Amino acid sequence: MHLHRLEKIWLSIGVSMLVIFLIVIGTMAFSMGMTPPSEHHHTIDPTKVTETAPFDKPAMTQIEDMHYEAVLVAYAFGYDPQTLEVPVGSTVDFKVTSSDVVHGFEIVGTNVNMMIEPGEVSHVSHTFDKPGEYLILCNEYCGTGHEFMKTTIVVK
Ligand code: CUA
Repeated sequence: MHLHRLEKIWLSIGVSMLVIFLIVIGTMAFSMGMTPPSEHHHTIDPTKVTETAPFDKPAMTQIEDMHYEAVLVAYAFGYDPQTLEVPVGSTVDFKVTSSDVVHGFEIVGTNVNMMIEPGEVSHVSHTFDKPGEYLILCNEYCGTGHEFMKTTIVVK
């Protein structure tokens, strides 16, 4: 069958559009479903938080001089462990997850402010240069005890 030149052009445009469309869809599916987990976004089974390391033993641990790791579990309505303490000048790598609903993690007087979602591990690091008692609180409404959901980190 002989096609007119114009018809051939239109046909090739149609085919190109289809190819572009498929590439776009493919790229979107790839970026949504197959992105490797970044360092700041780990997943965890929210029903097994208390059995999954390191959240089976929430604690502040020293990694090296002036460098600590704080593993915390947020729950309705509090944080485990209850109190944290580090020397002045320490850098603390916080690893936080939730064992129930969405909570917040804000350290008053710092720029630390993150959302804690069940099934996700949220990471943030902060260097505490000034001594004091820093209030950590939940800034996501999580139920009747929301406003009492807080803990402290003592820097001295
Ligand atoms: Cu937890 Cu509000």
